Amino acid sequence: MALLEILNLSKSFGGLQAINNVSLSVKENTVHGLIGPNGSGKSTFFNLITGVYQPDKGSLIEFNKVDITDKPAHFIAAQGLARTFQLLRLYGELSVLENVMVGYHPHTKYGLLAPLFMGSEVRRQDKLVKAEMIELLEFIGLAEHAEIPAAELSGGQRRLLALGRAIAMRPKMLLLDEPGAGLSPVNVDNLMATIMTLKERYNLTIIVVEHILKVVMSTCETISVLDHGQKISEGNPDFVKNDPAVIEAYLGKEMADDDIRLAMNS
Ligand SMILES: Nc1ncnc2c1ncn2[C@@H]1O[C@H](COP(=O)(O)OP(=O)(O)O)[C@@H](O)[C@H]1O
Ligand SMILES: [Mg+2]
Repeated sequence: MALLEILNLSKSFGGLQAINNVSLSVKENTVHGLIGPNGSGKSTFFNLITGVYQPDKGSLIEFNKVDITDKPAHFIAAQGLARTFQLLRLYGELSVLENVMVGYHPHTKYGLLAPLFMGSEVRRQDKLVKAEMIELLEFIGLAEHAEIPAAELSGGQRRLLALGRAIAMRPKMLLLDEPGAGLSPVNVDNLMATIMTLKERYNLTIIVVEHILKVVMSTCETISVLDHGQKISEGNPDFVKNDPAVIEAYLGKEMADDDIRLAMNS
């Protein structure tokens, strides 16, 4: 069953058609890759789905059978569609635990400040949430750092925390925009392994934008390829990496076919 169904999605910025009539469907419980050269429209695509930008007329976005076209970002998030950002937006002065609690906030009945005014029911709920968040921190390997300020984490740990905060919302679907940006290839591999574990534990459907092609090829069931805002290819990794349209568009004419295949495989 498709969890996300996109029909004829378009977005222009003035004269620039950043997304051009893209249709795409993502099956529940899969990892879907989105690749394409710089400026091909990947981040814009995410911004359209999550309500950061309004799509052009004629576009349709359905999530979990709800029409989310033109809906505000908070409505879309409340439907269970979460994302991470290329820039992490963590609260550096708050502890690691507090950062994931912020992600959970929409689900608690009383809100973060409630403990200040609270009765025993609020205290009980607060305890449950905390236990759940500690479990999440264990999954992402940050439980032992729960009490330190987020600013003291390493770059890789901060990426994991941003991921944890998005998952704390208990989303059905997670959009990851270059989750491994700035990490070494080995760390990106580790990050993707963690993402796969989280997917199983929390029953997630994932769309991931990642520029290290090898990572996309080894983790995604289906890959869609954008070029100049258009979807130029789609299929399983084997299909996509051998599609002449991808090889031509993706890395351009600067590399020989064999070199491009190498970049996708190794
Ligand atoms: N807010 C904006 N205003 C004007 N142009 C934009 C805006 N956001 C993105 N673009 C343009 O849309 C195109 C696609 O950008 P983007 O989605 O960021 O590509 P990618 O994430 O694939 O690198 C680029 O040409 C970019 O300059
Ligand atoms: Mg981008």
